[in-house]
Formats: sequence, C-alpha cells, structure tokens
Amino acid sequence: MAVLDQLTSQQAIDLENKYGAHNYHPLPVVLSKGEGVYVWDVEGKKYYDFLSAYSAVNQGHCHPKIVDAMTQQAQTLTLTSRAFYNDKLGEYEKFATELFGFDKLLPMNTGAEAVETALKLCRKWAYEVKGIEENKAQIVVCENNFHGRTTTIISFSNDPVARKNFGPFTNGFIKIEYDNLTALEETLKSDSDIAGFLVEPIQGEAGVYVPSEGYLASAKALCEKYNVLFIADEVQTGIARTGRMLAVDHENVKPDVLILGKALSGGAYPVSGVLANDSIMNVIKPGNHGSTFGGNPIAAAVAIAALNVVKDESLADNAEEMGQIFRRELASFALTNDLVESVRGKGLLNAILINDTEDSSTAWDICMKLRDNGLLAKPTHGNIIRFAPPLVINEEQLMDCISIIKKTIIEF
Ligand SMILES: Cc1ncc(COP(=O)(O)O)c(C=O)c1O
Repeated sequence: MAVLDQLTSQQAIDLENKYGAHNYHPLPVVLSKGEGVYVWDVEGKKYYDFLSAYSAVNQGHCHPKIVDAMTQQAQTLTLTSRAFYNDKLGEYEKFATELFGFDKLLPMNTGAEAVETALKLCRKWAYEVKGIEENKAQIVVCENNFHGRTTTIISFSNDPVARKNFGPFTNGFIKIEYDNLTALEETLKSDSDIAGFLVEPIQGEAGVYVPSEGYLASAKALCEKYNVLFIADEVQTGIARTGRMLAVDHENVKPDVLILGKALSGGAYPVSGVLANDSIMNVIKPGNHGSTFGGNPIAAAVAIAALNVVKDESLADNAEEMGQIFRRELASFALTNDLVESVRGKGLLNAILINDTEDSSTAWDICMKLRDNGLLAKPTHGNIIRFAPPLVINEEQLMDCISIIKKTIIEF
C-alpha cells in the first residue's frame, strides 16, 4: 500500500502508534516543515519551536548554509567508512580541534555513542597512562544525570523508567550528588582507582539544574589534584546554547575530554564527537574503537557549516542576550502568578517550575495549551517545562513567545 500523499495529523499519529515502537510519548502535533524558529504541522498551522529537538537545532530549522553543505556533499560522496580516507574528515578535524582548542577529535554520530567513546577513552587512559590495575577503573558520575540510552550509560542512571528490566548493568561507576564539591573530593580522596569525573555542566534532562557558580572550576581543580580526567558532556549545553560556545566557558574551564553532539550538525544530520589532547587520545589505536558512519563526508561537511553558522551569526551572544530577557520577564511574571514557582537556566536553556505535585499532569496540560496557542515545548522530569528555542530567535519573536507563555498560564 502506498503511503497517502498528504496525511492528516491524526492519520500520521495512528500510523506511528500502530507501526512504531512506543518508546516515546510525543506531544500530539505532527510537523512537516521547519524554518528558523518556526515549524508547521501538516494542516499548515505555524508554531514557535521551543524545544529545538532537545537543543540540536540551535542554528534554526533548515539553515540554508547547512542544508547547502549537506546537499552538495550528498551529491558528491556520502560514505567511505574509515577503511579509506576521505577528503572532508581531516579538514573538519582541523577546524573543530582549532575551534575548541584540543589536539584531536574522535568522530561519532549520536550523543550516546560519543559518551560511550569518552568512557572507553577514560578507562584506557587510566590503565595505560595513569597506571590503574586492569579492570579496576572507576568513573564518578552525578545523580540525576542524563547521558543517553546505551546499556552502559543507563547503568549509572538513577531514572527507574530508563533502567527497569534492562539489567544486568555495567560496573565501574560511582554516583555522587550533583553540585556537591565535598562529595566529589571525599570520593576522589578515598579511591585511587578513579579515572574520571563525567558531568553535565547544566543537567538538562533532569530539569535544567544549573550548579552553583564556581562548581565546574572547582571540580576541574579537584580532578587535576587527584589526576582524574574531567569529562564534560556538552551534548545538550554545547554549541552556544547557554550563551557561550561551551557551558564550561562560563567558568573558563578546559575539560580533559569534551563530548559534543546534537547542534554540532545544527540538527541536520547525526554528528557527535569527542575531543581531547594527544596525551589522552593517543591511547586509542587502530581497531580499538570506531563506527561505520563516524566521520563520514556528509557529517564532516555539515559540522563545518553548522559551526561556521554559530560563529558568523554570533549565536552565543544572542543566546546570552535573549536568555537574560526571557528569565527577567518570566521571573517577574512568576511573582504575579501562583502557577509558576520560578524560572532558571543559562542562555537559551531555561525551564519554569510549575507549582504542583511532581506526579500531576499540570506541566503536560500547560504544554498542550501552549501548543494550541502556537508554541511547542515539553515537560522534563516532574513538573518542569523546558524552554529552549533555536538560538537564531530575535527579540521581537522572543517577546511574542513570552506573551504566549504568560497568556497561556494566566488562562490555565
Ligand atoms: C547531556 C546529554 N548527553 C547525551 C545525550 C544523548 O544524545 P543522543 O540522544 O544523541 O544519543 C543527551 C540527549 O539528550 C544529553 O542531553
């Protein structure tokens, strides 16, 4: 049977429900077009996108320079595998390492793969450079982390929904409280087998938890003191989302290992990667790690274009400026409205806390009303709504969105 030319929203939802695994619970809206900060549903209704595909579409939907780079490369050479060299990967590696200030890049595709890569790199470094006895290395992680969905990564998640019935899990992780330097130092001090500390500079999925000022810099200093790798997962916070190219830049921290994904491609293509200096990255030898698609020519061309857009359009500065306006407006609104407890975030990674019990559906119901009013957002854990528009949003659009949010909550 041929798929119908123009599905209604309901038909598209029914198809996904019937033929797709139910591993997501999407807001009922079916999108068929995107441009800049806007998306359109199949009936032609226009929305502001305030999720940006979980911060992948920082450069805006279908950015012409990224689409051009992708289509040109797609017509020339798509995939060679790393069995051979291609003429785009080296250029991309040079560009990305110079931009972020590292010796080397290991290219992958999804965020979770890049996290896995960083974990493997950290363990190998621990055995071959730090001198930890084989199979003893521990990596410190934070409670309420989100680093992806592989079996190893969910092994150190404490989200019961993500873990239930997926065991047995991978060993070698120690969980401590986020934003707690005492816990970090106690742990590092008590165990000489610790190889790394994996941390999100802001915990995005957990509900946009911004750590105390100075936390990242002090954590990095502790890692240096105990010869432990500071591994920053900037898959969600990176690429200008928080008002700097990297969220660690707010505290002038240089991670030992940097994990990027999502907006590395502007959402056009799955592109992720791990950056580190030679003293760490050189432990990886041919055959140790890889991916058929990692570092493919389309990914390389797309990533160069996507990073150039971030620089050329000063998206970090815009995120910083628009974020200040967003938080100022919503913080003053929260003073007048009982439903909004507070607003928090950095740059254009923000969230409002809804004043209701964790298990109530209020945040979801508000998101449904926001949808009706032309703005798409999604609750994160509990009663928290994340607001993360594309970073190309201008002040007029932002003020329009702020009035949609206020109006929706007042009417709720
Ligand atoms: C901090 C962080 N790390 C890793 C990931 C996983 O990325 P992906 O979904 O591309 O595997 C995410 C996804 O939301 C994330 O927010």
